[in-house]
Amino acid sequence: MNVEQLATTAQALVADGKGLLAADESTGTIKKRFDQINTESTERSRRDYRHLLFTTPGAAEHISGVILFDETIRQESPDGKPLVKILQDAGMIPGIKVDSGAKPLAPHGVEKVTEGLDGLRERFQEYYKLGARFAKWRGVYDIGDGRPSRACISANAHALARYAALAQENDIVPVVEPEVLMDGSHTIADCERATEAVLRAVFAELAEQGVVLEGMLLKPNMVISGKDCPQQAGPDEVAKATVNCFKRVVPAAVPGIVFLSGGQGDEEATVNLNAINRLKAEEGAPWALSFSYGRALQQAALKAWGGKNDNADSARAAFRERAKATSAAAQGRYAA
Ligand code: 13P
Repeated sequence: MNVEQLATTAQALVADGKGLLAADESTGTIKKRFDQINTESTERSRRDYRHLLFTTPGAAEHISGVILFDETIRQESPDGKPLVKILQDAGMIPGIKVDSGAKPLAPHGVEKVTEGLDGLRERFQEYYKLGARFAKWRGVYDIGDGRPSRACISANAHALARYAALAQENDIVPVVEPEVLMDGSHTIADCERATEAVLRAVFAELAEQGVVLEGMLLKPNMVISGKDCPQQAGPDEVAKATVNCFKRVVPAAVPGIVFLSGGQGDEEATVNLNAINRLKAEEGAPWALSFSYGRALQQAALKAWGGKNDNADSARAAFRERAKATSAAAQGRYAA
């Protein structure tokens, strides 16, 4: 394990207001996104769509790294250039999603535990050769009726820490993603309690498994109201709850926190990230507070593309605009 290289990569991923593009939708998830634009999901259409995103002029001014799915890390452009090479040449670091999804947690019914540890060392060795320098593993937790349970919190914390240790062993920066879902009618206070409990368990396990905090990134949810909560907290309240929660539980040695958008609209995710960074400017915080958005960076581009490669330029323009706005928000400089 090369700790210096890990720390350098982790810092580069959150440097200068830059953040990550999550383009690692599994085959099932990307099909759902393509269904929204009446486009068939094939190996070729997925390649075309992601290729257009990665070749957006100027993307690297705002995007430091891109999380890929296993299929994508092996794909080439129509003229035969590996997509990984396209990212590298543009100045973006390739990353890879390595979990194999959230499965029902026996015997806890609706709760889930993320799988994918078997054979992970060998997969990391291969992904490193293919060019990946960071990775992602997502655990999910929902809120309601005694959930998340202790069992769900501890099973996912353990898996996240095992994954992170194996990533670092292979000189790959682990992006540790515990996501407390925004589905439901819970309040922002409920989200804060659940997020704090989840993060406490995650950092206890990371310490237990010997993960080097300087060589990782945290990818959490923001602390926000449930989607169906009648009382929706505004950006200032979200910023306060989020930063205060993280100050209690995230060690200062972690170089950066890159939020997921988690179903927030693109404008909402931008405004909230901006408020978080404004608050950081006032009160101080030890970590970079940036982004690793999937939907909030892609929704506009996906719509503009509509499955037609003739629309590639307008899709690129839409992607570029969201990337620019989100990066401004990561510096507390976004003006709606
Ligand atoms: P969203 O920003 O759409 O939540 O996607 C981020 C991600 O990588 C979820 O695992």
